Amino acid sequence: MPSACPAVRSTLAASLIGLACAGSPALAQNPCAARNPCAPRTTNPCAGKNPCAAKNPCAAKNPCAAAAKIDAKLVTRPKGTRLADGDRAVLVAEGKRLWADTKLSTNGLSCASCHTANAGFAASFAQPYPHYVQMADQQGGFKRIALDEMVQFCLVVPMATKPMAWGSKELAALTAYTGVVQASFKPNPCAAKNPCAAKNPCAAKNPCAAKR
Ligand code: HEC
Repeated sequence: MPSACPAVRSTLAASLIGLACAGSPALAQNPCAARNPCAPRTTNPCAGKNPCAAKNPCAAKNPCAAAAKIDAKLVTRPKGTRLADGDRAVLVAEGKRLWADTKLSTNGLSCASCHTANAGFAASFAQPYPHYVQMADQQGGFKRIALDEMVQFCLVVPMATKPMAWGSKELAALTAYTGVVQASFKPNPCAAKNPCAAKNPCAAKNPCAAKR
């Protein structure tokens, strides 16, 4: 399905999960592509006929498949509230710890599962907040989103849990540490064009792969 491939490739979520496009040179070179449990169904012309699809044990846990819309209010900072105050160094240290804490999610993922070494971030991450983030638009209708709201968004969507209290130390800490990560972020010039699905540097970070 050549027409479906470029569209899927253009989303970072798709490249994150190790994309397989039927008929592309990528598929030929990547022996794992066909086994990727997260590969978007739209690229698989056989999906509809697959008698096992409904029994796929990964489906429910696949954070990438959750393209459903969320209620934007869940991750929109309520008027009149603000981040908790605190010593910046303390917040950053606490945020760094939380970043790797799988207990924050209901699906065994931590922020680090997807974002270690700047993985999972589109070029937009380099811009000052608030700014446009594709996933936040697609699943929440946000045309601009603030950093603390983006943290809440990743808690609610890929980590399948509840947003944190808006004035909590935890949210302030995660936001502070994510700001530190952002400061050292350099966009990957290849990501947008992704000519290299075959050499997919994200495949190893596929949060679903580890569970097999
Ligand atoms: C299952 C993978 C996954 C997990 C876990 C995850 N994220 Fe994300 N994150 C993504 C994806 C996908 C995007 C969307 C990138 C896009 O559309 O540009 C994203 C985007 C972001 C962005 C916005 C980047 C930008 O362009 O401005 C931030 C900030 C962020 N995540 C922080 C976090 C934090 C903090 C956590 C932990 C609480 C977390 N993420 C957990 C996958 C994940």
